[in-house]
Amino acid sequence: MTGRRGSAAPETVRMSKNDILQHLRSAKSEHVSGAELARRLGVSRTAVWKHIKTLEHEGYGIEAVPSKGYRMTKEPDRIRPSEVNDLAGNLFSGHIRYHAEIASTNTLGMELSAKGAPEGTVVIAEVQTGGKGRLGRHWVSPAGNLYFSVVLRPPVAPQQAPIITLMGAVAAASAIKKTTGISAGIKWPNDILIEGRKVCGLLTEMSAEVDRIRHLVLGVGINCNMDLSALPEDVRRQATTVAEATGRMVDRTHLLSAVLAELDQGYREFLRDRQRVLDAWKALNVTIGRAVSVSGAGEILQGMAADIDSEGRLMLRLADGTMRTVTAGDVTIVKGQV
Ligand code: BTN
Repeated sequence: MTGRRGSAAPETVRMSKNDILQHLRSAKSEHVSGAELARRLGVSRTAVWKHIKTLEHEGYGIEAVPSKGYRMTKEPDRIRPSEVNDLAGNLFSGHIRYHAEIASTNTLGMELSAKGAPEGTVVIAEVQTGGKGRLGRHWVSPAGNLYFSVVLRPPVAPQQAPIITLMGAVAAASAIKKTTGISAGIKWPNDILIEGRKVCGLLTEMSAEVDRIRHLVLGVGINCNMDLSALPEDVRRQATTVAEATGRMVDRTHLLSAVLAELDQGYREFLRDRQRVLDAWKALNVTIGRAVSVSGAGEILQGMAADIDSEGRLMLRLADGTMRTVTAGDVTIVKGQV
């Protein structure tokens, strides 16, 4: 009995607070009286006042005018995990872990998975001090962007894991398109580019046996609102942010929720029919049919990106007409701009 009451109360508090936010947002520049909010939410005016104080503490600007009520003047540029959590019926609602600062969401995701964290667990950080990129690189992770990892336990062989990363890239690019209208392209395997500059990267780590994945962590980093000067010079030249592309600040909570919704759908598709994921990736890719240079595994290959195979590997046609299949590497588009 005590346990039930103990777990129900925070949920009620969270819903009311989010409901107040919804009402203040939809009122736009109008004031909404405390009595009206209390009536709509079925709580006391004192409860409304307490929620308003909590929201102010979280960085919302709320103007309170006697006899008029409350009006929202500013939303904080912080991820609002409880709003992300409210995604109904999504694999990723219910297991959100939010951190102001950690070393790496992927590292924590792997640790939690090893301890039995359920599929659908999401680890989010505002800042990473040891962000990890592909091929052992560092992912510089200042405030203002999205850094998150999701725990998956796909019932497939490890060879299929790269397709999950491709699925993640499709999800991120689709969410960017849906929330901002910007068309981003995917450079093999999973760099997301806007006008040729990188806006998002994905890193998959997993624990597996030869024929079975125990758990897999898919990490996503999206450059959103950061000042590009926070990046080292060499990285900065090839990077962009969603804010730079749209000319306005990104609501990271909305974008994150959108990516999780796309991931939910993409993962179901992956489990049903992997070919559909590959087709979706091909529809968004900016690599196939281009002259490319691929570096990795101690060699640089030049050729035409012909296709990807059923495991997501890049099929490269070399100058002498022979085909090479590339599992990992960095692709540079040789001719023209992406
Ligand atoms: C790349 O090199 O393109 C992959 C970058 C992946 C970065 C993300 S940020 C969230 C997650 N946590 C990490 O440490 N890395 C991934």
